[in-house]
Amino acid sequence: MFQNEIKDAYHDCVQDLIHQPVVRSMDQYIQHGDVDCFEHSLFVSYYSFLICRKLGLDTRSAARGGLLHDFFLYDWHEKSGRKGLHGFTHPKTALENARRHFELNETEQNIIRTHMWPLGLPVPLYPEAWVVWMVDKCCTFAEVAGWCRTLYRPHPLVPIMNPVKGR
Ligand SMILES: [Fe+2]
Ligand SMILES: [Fe+2]
Repeated sequence: MFQNEIKDAYHDCVQDLIHQPVVRSMDQYIQHGDVDCFEHSLFVSYYSFLICRKLGLDTRSAARGGLLHDFFLYDWHEKSGRKGLHGFTHPKTALENARRHFELNETEQNIIRTHMWPLGLPVPLYPEAWVVWMVDKCCTFAEVAGWCRTLYRPHPLVPIMNPVKGR
């Protein structure tokens, strides 16, 4: 499969989510370094999709769960009266937000709820949830280390991130 076909196959998995203003609003919040939460989630989603495709797993659930795994919709650097530590509580918040806006299957819900394991329970139940769990850790490390300039930009997902400018 050529790069463009892979990109289109990825887009087919997430197209009903990725252009929604509420999903795009994740770009208002910095995640790590200078990477915002939308960009972080997009790359966790995309690389999880690619790995699941190689392994013959459920690419659609991995892409969708990955895109919404950090759908908590606040600036986690600010305290602002939230109860509990962000690292432990945000998967539950992200899942509640995601269920409020979208219909999710069991795998997608498990991906979101367990992506910070072992910080909080439950344990990932599906192979796709373990893939997203691992990719999230790798992307976080790359972002904190400042490697995302090389890994993410420029990148074939730019047209998906900026459809007006990119297509
Ligand atoms: Fe997270
Ligand atoms: Fe994340």
